[in-house]
Amino acid sequence: MNIGIIVYSETGNTLALCEQARDILTGYGQTVTLAKITCNDIKLDRTLRDAPAADRYDLVILGTPVQGFSLPVPVQDYLARATFAQGVKLGVLVTQYFKADWLGGTRTVRQAVAALARFEPVFYGAGIVHVRSRKRDEQVNAAMRALTNFEGKF
Ligand SMILES: Cc1cc2nc3c(=O)[nH]c(=O)nc-3n(C[C@H](O)[C@H](O)[C@H](O)COP(=O)(O)O)c2cc1C
Repeated sequence: MNIGIIVYSETGNTLALCEQARDILTGYGQTVTLAKITCNDIKLDRTLRDAPAADRYDLVILGTPVQGFSLPVPVQDYLARATFAQGVKLGVLVTQYFKADWLGGTRTVRQAVAALARFEPVFYGAGIVHVRSRKRDEQVNAAMRALTNFEGKF
């Protein structure tokens, strides 16, 4: 499988977890590319600078923080414009500050999947990590299991 991990990260939290997922999948012998979505200036100009190609991947893990209880605007813009393979297998990895999924994480996952509906993605799993939670390590482990263990999923 050709796997793409596509990540938007402003302060490194989501990126670090995406790198962890990449390393696990690489250890399983998968071919993995990690690519970053960036904008021109996170404060002054949130138009996209890097919008990585996504159509070559059979499976994509999208990594994103929660911003304002939602998918960040640059990620919304990216997903509205990017081309993914039809029927792409899709996992979503989200980080957030608040310690409850309903304070943004759940909605952000749902928004990401909905934004790619035109490609009829096969949504196979999600991980939501609360970066300041005492349960963070457990959440990271659960996220890695959900996103990197494909057994019985396809
Ligand atoms: C503009 C902005 C809005 C945010 N809104 C939320 C939010 O609604 N809910 C939440 O739990 N965390 C929120 N956060 C915190 C981030 O989701 C959290 O710090 C995340 O791990 C950052 O990921 P990153 O380091 O990959 O950029 C917000 C952060 C920023 C900068």
